[in-house]
Amino acid sequence: MAERVRITDVAPRDGLQGEPAPVSTADKRRLITALQDAGVDAIEVTSFVRPDLIPQLADAGELVASLAEVKRPGIEYIALVPNERGLVGALAANDAAGSRVIDTIAVFASASETFSQKNINTDIDGSLERFEPVIDRALTEGLRVRAYVSCVIACPFEGVIDPEDVGSLVLRLAELGAHEIDLGDTIGAGDEATTAMMLTEVMGTLGDSDLLPALTLHPHDTFGRASDCVRAALDLGLRSFDGAAGGLGGCPFASTPQRRAPGNIATSTLRRTIEAAGFETSIDPSKLAIADAVASRILADASARSIGDAS
Ligand code: HMG
Ligand code: MG
Repeated sequence: MAERVRITDVAPRDGLQGEPAPVSTADKRRLITALQDAGVDAIEVTSFVRPDLIPQLADAGELVASLAEVKRPGIEYIALVPNERGLVGALAANDAAGSRVIDTIAVFASASETFSQKNINTDIDGSLERFEPVIDRALTEGLRVRAYVSCVIACPFEGVIDPEDVGSLVLRLAELGAHEIDLGDTIGAGDEATTAMMLTEVMGTLGDSDLLPALTLHPHDTFGRASDCVRAALDLGLRSFDGAAGGLGGCPFASTPQRRAPGNIATSTLRRTIEAAGFETSIDPSKLAIADAVASRILADASARSIGDAS
């Protein structure tokens, strides 16, 4: 029997966070419902971050409370939290929902000092100091912890990142207790060779310790090479990937004046790549097409509404 590979859809969070036209809470819930109907293993539903910086996700608490009635058993819901304030928001949202809607919190570090400053307003050491109490409390509350490392191949401001810097940051996050490390190729700079080099370094660094967090790859598809990176990662034993319905997404703090931050690999492309490589996923392609259609419709509606409001 073919080996199973896990897929997390990040469209409701990474996909929407940079969209300028406001998407309603009800539409976000529709997208999340369509994604879980399509059979993804996990969904990144929102972020508990500063609403003035990411206004699109300012409804995080309200959204989470409203998801209690749609969440199916067995699916994992993830929310990003950058600090203790974010964790408190996520825990309060679970309380308001009356059940554990958020199973996993995701902290987010970067292998690039400049990107760390631009994204979360602190350097790499400062981010780890912030995450330590967050991870401790999340573990005490029985939540799973995912830890992102952004810019694992290159940074939009600093250029190429040394794989050793990625390896040492991954180790520090694993030592803090993260169950899963999510390796973000934030600007889609990777190819087969650089992805393999980075992963080999990360696995070697973790292999020298007793720590074995699950590894996930989070590719963005700027230059159409994300599938090559996924194949390289499968060859090296990774069995968990992030994609986004419709290929939406990108971190606003990775945008430069010349280029808006690129989208994630489309979950449909990710599924095809994984299955063509001889693995199984839990996704039903016809239902995923419905989720893709829901994603494009809600963005079209949001943008039509915002043009209407402005005129
Ligand atoms: P800061 O300004 O340094 O925080 O923000 P602070 O502690 O100095 O607080 C300043 C004010 O913000 C205070 O308000 C806090 O209460 C408030 P005041 O008392 O002055 O009225 N505040 C908050 N409000 C709501 N929620 C919070 C929160 N924290 C403080 N959690 C912070 C630091 C990290 C919070 C800020 O920079 C931020 O929210 N950044 C947003 C970062 C973000 O969401 N980036 C996109 C996601 S990362 C990504 O997309 C990459 C990824 O996909 C992987 C990849 O592709 O590589 C994950
Ligand atoms: Mg991303």
